[in-house]
This record gives sequence, structure tokens and C-alpha cells, in this order.
Amino acid sequence: MTRPVALVTGATTGLGLEFASQLAADGHDLVLVARTHDLLAGRARELGERYGVEVEVLAADLTEPEQLARVEARVAALERPVSVLVNNAGYGLLRPFEENSVSQEDHHVALHVRVPLRLTHAALGQMLPRRSGTIVNVASVAGYTPRGTYGASKAWVLSFSRWANWQYRRRGVRVSAVAPGFVHTEFHQRMGARKEQIPRFLWLEAPRVVRTALQDARRGKAISVPSLRYKVIVALTKVLPTSLIATGSLMGRQAD
Ligand SMILES: NC(=O)c1ccc[n+]([C@@H]2O[C@H](COP(=O)([O-])OP(=O)(O)OC[C@H]3O[C@@H](n4cnc5c(N)ncnc54)[C@H](OP(=O)(O)O)[C@@H]3O)[C@@H](O)[C@H]2O)c1
Repeated sequence: MTRPVALVTGATTGLGLEFASQLAADGHDLVLVARTHDLLAGRARELGERYGVEVEVLAADLTEPEQLARVEARVAALERPVSVLVNNAGYGLLRPFEENSVSQEDHHVALHVRVPLRLTHAALGQMLPRRSGTIVNVASVAGYTPRGTYGASKAWVLSFSRWANWQYRRRGVRVSAVAPGFVHTEFHQRMGARKEQIPRFLWLEAPRVVRTALQDARRGKAISVPSLRYKVIVALTKVLPTSLIATGSLMGRQAD
């Protein structure tokens, strides 16, 4: 029997690697996407051996149109179709909007908005005719807060996923956005942020975040907020004044 295929972007580390591991443990063959080919090849070997699944590797910088087109072609393919798409690749900018160059900001929005938009479009082309498929978009609790282009991009992911799940669920395709709070991954280190400024109780572990995200997606939930503490925080963002939420959301943006 052929196994279903899951494609995960940003699969070399952090949440993406955890999505790949849990989907492989659940019997999916994998397509792993990220920029660093050697790291991807190593992950493919490890996951293939550990879970006895087939793993393809697609090294691509998703912000480069020609490289993104190769990934879109794989997502759209009818042969060995992708049943689960996880739009996860992302990163943070440490400095405020006006201090970054406009091309840094543009690159950031491209990865968080244009890439999931294009890959979702490619996936729907083969999922809707088969009346089957799951798309998980990794957003953030920052999507509920005023926090520069990062918060704005993640708000787009939340809104887009909420609409797409309503639009396509009845046609067999579930779309779900997961909104994690702070998670121990390489994210903050890559951004150059000081993790110790963030209170310990706000940290989540990747396995739990991904388990909740996949469970909620299977249940057809449009939005998944892992952990009770972040459900409370999301509820508070809807009633507290903008100035308070904006000040709180500066946490995790202090330089190392
Ligand atoms: N960690 C948190 O606290 C947190 C909280 C909420 C939401 N999130 C979101 O979770 C997602 C995953 O982040 P993470 O925390 O797991 O970060 P991470 O550990 O830094 O992993 C990021 C992944 O994205 C890949 N990537 C980055 N730029 C890419 C590009 N241009 N093209 C292709 N792949 C690229 C990286 O691999 P290469 O460098 O090899 O390309 C890596 O595999 C992001 O969307 C992030 O916004 C994270």
C-alpha cells in the first residue's frame, strides 16, 4: 500500500523538523524543503531510517521565484500527490520596521505571505479534484498583536486560513493555522534575540505545539492555539488596549 505524502517547508530544524517527524511517525512519506541541502539530506536519512518512510529532499530558497516554482510544481503534482502541506518556513526580524532596509522587510513578507499563498494555490489544484487534503499554515500568537510586519504577516495567515477552511472544508480540504507563542527552536537565536528576557512560563516545547496543531487540523479546526496560557493571552489581546499589547509584544525583540 502506498503511503500518503506530506511536504513540510522549513524542515531542517525547529517546528518544521517536528512536523516532519510526527507525520512520518503517523505513516507519511515526506518531502522536506529548506535552503541548506546538506542538512536536509542528513534529516532525510535520519527520518527515513527511524520511521521506515521514503523521504524526498527539495533544497530551495522559497523567496527566490525560480526555486519557489520548483516547490510549487511538486505540490501541484498529480503523481505521488501531496496530501498534507505544512507551510512553516519563517524567521523574525530583530530591529523595528524603519531601521530595516525596505528589501529586508519585503523579503520577510514574501516568505510569510507570498510563499504560503502560492503553495496553497498549488495544493488546491490537486487536492480539490481528489476531495482530500490538509494544509497547515504556521502563524503565531503575534498575529493577534501589533508587531510590525511579522505580526501583520501572521495576521494574514490567520485570516487567510480561517477563510480557506470555511471555503474548502466542505469540498474535502481542511486548512488550519497554528498560532504558537514562544517555542524553543532556533528562531530566536537566528534572529539574534535574548531568550532569557522571556519569562520561563511562556515557553512551549515543539513536540506539544505540533501534536496540538495536527490534532486540531484533523478535527477541521481553522485556528489552533496550543496551550491554555496562550488561549488566555489571545483572549486578552481582543480586549486590552493596543498600547499595552504592543509593549508586551516587544518581548523577545531585544538584541543579544
Ligand atoms: N519559535 C517560536 O517562538 C515561534 C513562535 C510562533 C511562530 N513561529 C513560526 O514557526 C515557524 C518555524 O519557525 P521555527 O521556530 O521552527 O524556526 P527555526 O528553528 O529557525 O526554523 C526555520 C526553518 O525555516 C527554514 N527557512 C528559513 N528561511 C527559508 C527560506 N527563505 N526558504 C526555505 N526555508 C527557509 C530554515 O532552514 P534553512 O535555513 O536551511 O533554509 C529552517 O528549517 C516560522 O514560520 C515562525 O514564524 C515560531
